[in-house]
Amino acid sequence: MAGFRKNVGIPSSNQWNSASNDLYKQSPHSLRDSPSKLLLHNLKPLTMSDPNLITPTTTGGPPPNLSQLSCLRWTAKHPPTDPTISFSNKTILVTGANTGLGFQAALKYFSLGSSKLILAVRTLEKGQLTKSRLLSLVPSRSADADTISIIPVNLDTFSSVISFISQLETETQTLDIALLNAGLGNPTYEEAPTGWEQAVQVNVLSAALMAVLLLPLLRRTFYLTGKKPHMTFVNSNGHDKFEKKWLGTETSLLRYLQDGMKKKWDAEKSYLGVKVVGMAVFKGIVKGAGHGIIVDVVCPGFCKTDLGRKFGALSHVFMAPMMAFLGRTAEEGARSLVSGSVLTEEGHGGFWFLFGGLVTDEKLMKRTWEKVFEALRKDCSDVEGILGRKD
Ligand SMILES: NC(=O)c1ccc[n+]([C@@H]2O[C@H](COP(=O)([O-])OP(=O)(O)OC[C@H]3O[C@@H](n4cnc5c(N)ncnc54)[C@H](OP(=O)(O)O)[C@@H]3O)[C@@H](O)[C@H]2O)c1
Repeated sequence: MAGFRKNVGIPSSNQWNSASNDLYKQSPHSLRDSPSKLLLHNLKPLTMSDPNLITPTTTGGPPPNLSQLSCLRWTAKHPPTDPTISFSNKTILVTGANTGLGFQAALKYFSLGSSKLILAVRTLEKGQLTKSRLLSLVPSRSADADTISIIPVNLDTFSSVISFISQLETETQTLDIALLNAGLGNPTYEEAPTGWEQAVQVNVLSAALMAVLLLPLLRRTFYLTGKKPHMTFVNSNGHDKFEKKWLGTETSLLRYLQDGMKKKWDAEKSYLGVKVVGMAVFKGIVKGAGHGIIVDVVCPGFCKTDLGRKFGALSHVFMAPMMAFLGRTAEEGARSLVSGSVLTEEGHGGFWFLFGGLVTDEKLMKRTWEKVFEALRKDCSDVEGILGRKD
C-alpha cells in the first residue's frame, strides 16, 4: 500500500506504479511456469515441497505481456491458494494481529488448529477484542479461548519490545512461528518517542530488535523439538521501486529516511525506502539466525486493509475504486503470509516475491544493516551477543 503523495492526501502521479509494487510481477523466472515455486534471492525458482502452500494461483502465473494495470487486476482475480495444513502442536506469534493482514493470518492459524496463538497487539483491549472475534469466527474452537494469549507491544519504542520479549519468555518455552507483520504508512513526518521517524521505528528498528531478541527462543525451540521454527517478515515488492538516485550524496539509507525526510517529507519515498531497509534487516537476520531457524520474507500483494487509515479523505476517495478493482482482500493477502511461515528449508533467505532493485546491492544492504545494528545496540546491548558479533 504505497503511492500516497505527501501530506495533501492526493495519490501521486506514480500511483499506479506504486500500486503495482506489491504485484507478483513477471520475471525471466516467472511463476507462470509452475504454480508452486518460490523465488529466492538468487532468482532461481525452487519447487516447494507442498504445492498447496505457496502458490500464486491454481492455474499458473499471469499471462505474459500484461500492462501493469491488467497485471494488478489479474493478481486480484487470481489470489494464492488458501493453505489448508494443520497448525496443531504449533505455538505461533503474530504481530499486528488486530486488523488487516495480521488479523486474517491469526484467523487462519486459529482455524487450522494452532495449539497456542500469541497476539502481539498495541493494547490489551485490542487484544481482547481480537480474541473474541477469533472465537466467534471459529465456532468449532469456541472452547479453546485459553489457547489464545495477548501480549501488548507498542513498536514505537525499543523498551516496549524488550518488555514484550520478557513476557513472551514467561508465556512459552517454545515458539514455532513468528510472523512479524505489524507496520504503518504515514502521510506526514512523525517521530516516535525514540526520535526516529515513526515508520522507520515501527516497521524497521523495532521489528529488527524483536527479530534479534526472538532468536534465543527460536534456537531453544529447535533444540527442544528438533524442528526448525520459522521467522517470517512481511515486506513489500515496493522496495523494488526505490531509486538510488533519490539518495543524492547521502550514503546512509537510514539517515536519508530520518534526516532527509524530516527536511523534505515524501510519503511514497519514505514508504518505499522503509521497505528497502526492511529487506536489509531481513538479510542481516538471515545471516545471524544460525542454521536452526528458517527465516523468510513475503509480500502479500496489493491488499485492502487499514494501512492507509492516516491518509486524508481525498486520498481514500481516490484509492477506493482502485482498491475495489485491483486489490486483494486481506484474507487473500494473508494466504501468502501463512504459507510463507511454513516453508521448508528451501525457503530460508527467500522472498515471496522477487528481490529487486537496491536489495541486490549487497554493499548497500550490508551498510544499512550495520546502521540498524548500531541503532539497536545503543538501546539493547544483548543484540551483539545474540548475533554472535564482537565489533
Ligand atoms: N496492504 C497492503 O497492500 C500491503 C502490501 C505489502 C505489505 N504490506 C505490509 O503488511 C503489514 C500489515 O499491514 P496491513 O496492510 O495489514 O495494515 P493494517 O491493516 O493497518 O495493519 C497494521 C497492523 O500493524 C499494527 N501496528 C502499527 N503500528 C504499530 C505499533 N506502533 N505498535 C504495534 N503495532 C502496530 C497495527 O496496530 P493498530 O491497529 O493498533 O494500529 C495493525 O495491527 C505491514 O507491514 C505493511 O507494510 C501491506
